[in-house]
Amino acid sequence: MTQEKPTILVTGGAGYIGSHAVLALQQAGYSVVILDNLVYGHRDLVEMVLKAELIVGDTNDRALLDQIFASRAIAAVMHFSAYAYVGESVQDPAKYYRNNVVGTLTLLEAMVAASVKRFVFSSTCATYGEPQTIPIPEDHPQSPVNPYGASKLMVEQMLRDFDHAYGLKSVYFRYFNAAGASPNGLLGEDHNPETHLIPLVLQTALGAREAISVFGTDYPTPDGTCIRDYIHVSDLADAHVLGLEYLLKGGNTDVFNLGNGNGFSVREVIEAACEVTGREIAVVECDRRPGDPPMLVGSSEKARRVLGWQPQYTDMKEIITHAWQWHQGRHG
Ligand SMILES: NC(=O)c1ccc[n+]([C@@H]2O[C@H](COP(=O)([O-])OP(=O)(O)OC[C@H]3O[C@@H](n4cnc5c(N)ncnc54)[C@H](O)[C@@H]3O)[C@@H](O)[C@H]2O)c1
Repeated sequence: MTQEKPTILVTGGAGYIGSHAVLALQQAGYSVVILDNLVYGHRDLVEMVLKAELIVGDTNDRALLDQIFASRAIAAVMHFSAYAYVGESVQDPAKYYRNNVVGTLTLLEAMVAASVKRFVFSSTCATYGEPQTIPIPEDHPQSPVNPYGASKLMVEQMLRDFDHAYGLKSVYFRYFNAAGASPNGLLGEDHNPETHLIPLVLQTALGAREAISVFGTDYPTPDGTCIRDYIHVSDLADAHVLGLEYLLKGGNTDVFNLGNGNGFSVREVIEAACEVTGREIAVVECDRRPGDPPMLVGSSEKARRVLGWQPQYTDMKEIITHAWQWHQGRHG
């Protein structure tokens, strides 16, 4: 007889990465409860595609969290909910510290009170700040250059302390740039406002934008544009299931980068998008933006070695093909 798998609470499960993680959990046989305040999440994707239980509420609502943990046998929490606009975090840091730090603290306190002691957390390469070595390993110094990155670093510190004091075990993943869409075309990226390169390029291909702005063409890179590490969202989702299973088997608190390992320049991404879509994509060359390092590429060797993670979609054209399929279906 196969044993039933436990129930996982996924915060931010109506958002981009969280929804793909919910799908991966369901495919691996887990039951899922989503907590999302729908500030950025999409109810239609939860109801029509994932068909998972959705609790519309906020991680800052301690009474709601207590009620969720009291009424269900939750084995672990995957925590995606946060605000993630770097520029906004500079303009309004209080909003970021309240949601990303205080909201997470409230959730962690409710977990400890309910004796739920397994936690998978979305951290970010933005905790590293300016890279000193490429590819960036997990033990690279962390010196974030904006409140968004700082808010995530604070949570990482809390997680180490919560393990020490309360035995709450966590895996925290530092993602590089999440990209692409579910290969079945049913889930994908739909941020509003959108700030990520690939959806902006595809919106330009669809005619929803006049041109794509390229910030800086004089960087010390082969074609002068910034190089970033794009990781397919379904590969990210798979890593989360592996991280969860590592914890359920008794694994200790640990951190893993999640990246492609290969960098792609802004021009390479635009060229790949032109090939995939078969459309002209107008480009406007602009000055560099302050705080953008020339190259950000991570080493994900540890996730492969310890978790057995094997990203499947590392080719840029394949990442864009999945994203294009989604964007045409959603906005075409
Ligand atoms: N997208 C990336 O490239 C990237 C890179 C590194 C890290 N991350 C992190 O991954 C996580 C998910 O990112 P995403 O791109 O899917 O973002 P997203 O905005 O699509 O998803 C976040 C979800 O959380 C919900 N939410 C926000 N605050 C909440 C709260 N207080 N209570 C309940 N729900 C709340 C939103 O409604 C949204 O559905 C975030 O923590 C982000 O910081 C993302």
